[in-house]
Amino acid sequence: MKDMKEKWWKNSVVYQIYPRSFCDSNGDGIGDINGIRSKLWYLKELGVDIIWINPVYPSPNADNGYDVADYCGISEEYGSLEDMKALIQECENYDIKIMMDLVMNHTSDEHPWFMEAKSTKDNPYRDYYIWRKGEPGNPPNDLQACFGGSAWEYSDETGEYYLHMFDKKQPDLNWENEAVRNELWKMMNYWIDLGIKGFRMDVMDMVGKVPDEKIIQNGPKLHQYIQEMNRETFGDRDMITVGECGGSYPEVGRLYSDPERKELDMIFTFEHMLVDELPGKQKWDLKELDLRDLKRVFGKWQQELGEKGWNSLFWNNHDFPRVVSRWGNDGAYREKSAKMLATALHGMKGTPYIYQGEEIGMTNFPFKGEGDFDDVESINMYRERTEQGYSEEEIMKSLCAKSRDNARTPMQWNDGHEAGFTKGTAWYHINPNYREINAEQALEDPNSIFHYYQQLIRLRKEKPVLVHGAFEMLCPEDETIFAYTREWEGTKWLIVCNFYDKLAEFKYPAKGRVILSNYEQEPELSLEQIKLRPYEAIICQIMV
Ligand code: GLC
Ligand code: CA
Repeated sequence: MKDMKEKWWKNSVVYQIYPRSFCDSNGDGIGDINGIRSKLWYLKELGVDIIWINPVYPSPNADNGYDVADYCGISEEYGSLEDMKALIQECENYDIKIMMDLVMNHTSDEHPWFMEAKSTKDNPYRDYYIWRKGEPGNPPNDLQACFGGSAWEYSDETGEYYLHMFDKKQPDLNWENEAVRNELWKMMNYWIDLGIKGFRMDVMDMVGKVPDEKIIQNGPKLHQYIQEMNRETFGDRDMITVGECGGSYPEVGRLYSDPERKELDMIFTFEHMLVDELPGKQKWDLKELDLRDLKRVFGKWQQELGEKGWNSLFWNNHDFPRVVSRWGNDGAYREKSAKMLATALHGMKGTPYIYQGEEIGMTNFPFKGEGDFDDVESINMYRERTEQGYSEEEIMKSLCAKSRDNARTPMQWNDGHEAGFTKGTAWYHINPNYREINAEQALEDPNSIFHYYQQLIRLRKEKPVLVHGAFEMLCPEDETIFAYTREWEGTKWLIVCNFYDKLAEFKYPAKGRVILSNYEQEPELSLEQIKLRPYEAIICQIMV
């Protein structure tokens, strides 16, 4: 218990940087490591402790860096290993830790291991990947890749199929092979020795897969592998580790993050990210948010990981649309709803993650047609659904709501040329709203979303109730209000949020001293009967 309370990452906040779109230092239109270095002051100002950087390794970019061709190098478009070392050093000076993104489920098909592996059946690297016999046009089974189509690709050189759960340029590594695991441990130790203090592990719940039985997530050997990794790499280091485990539920969440099991510190579940899609269908099959579903999912995870294990808290990342457009209001109530969403999330128990631009309320992009998309998943979806007879209108509706490209437009720094992202021409569209929504404006305005995030981050540092307090969900059946309490050593906080643009009533039998709100408040509120204004959010301490 003591140990649990003392982990530094429990009162930390992580900021996610999508390097391609964060800041370009040399005018080639692509964000880079020196661009990140030039903005450390901004991150310090915000108050975050850790930056998670999406993959910066050499890559043919079939999936924007999630197809790694060299685990130990830095892609030329992002800079050099020297730049990376300089970033590590400067982060240390700012007391900011770096979390690297590890893509260990698969490599690029241009990784030297795969080039060897595909050449002949008896190549020593052959068994680094997953091969099965099969005739052209008749794959080993009907497993589907996450980006559409069969997960098996026929390889002409040797007349066999290899497995790729994502793009065909992302062949899956064979974790059954001990040599593969040892290579990965070596690579992790290399980054640890360079001063990296955290790892985010891509699709971690897929590495124990049994493709012949079509078991992909949560395979039988998964936790055994993670425990081995812990022993061989970061186990005795003071780091932060988070596994991306999209297909997890609280029972497995606890297996990963119970400190006694020596696996990871926390995971990313996607359960709360799926509540606005039709059950059993795809993310493109849209369903209106029912707030009760969101509360049910959060409440469950908060409860089940209460004493053993730890949650990560996030609304956004590079794979999901912008939350203010998704579950807030990116029109008249953009500022209010962005702050409300931040309150609802940062009030819970766990480590919060902020995705670049979220802290200034960046919105989804107004895509007009097929040509506007860059992401392989969106492009494939457009083609597939067109073939399946969906109308252009239906397809665009889904893509505008859910395309990953919404999150990948360049960071809006100011209202000047290319929103201050580059001196050249940005690699991707800049959201046309950059003149109103940008970091410079947010820093100048004391009432901005940025400054609200700053306060939430500071509260987490100063108030143990926010870090350790027991969570209790209130009014789970209410359709408009998200409310809960946190309680720690005699201190009780109430967090109440109105998720909609209508007045909403709320009752709690006590008085509260206001800690933070997105509206002007009296210092003390009677909570017996209050009317919450559109997107109003209040954190208050219950007075006894
Ligand atoms: C993860 C990444 C995503 C990537 C996929 C394949 O889900 O976050 O961006 O496309 O894994 O590596
Ligand atoms: Ca650049």
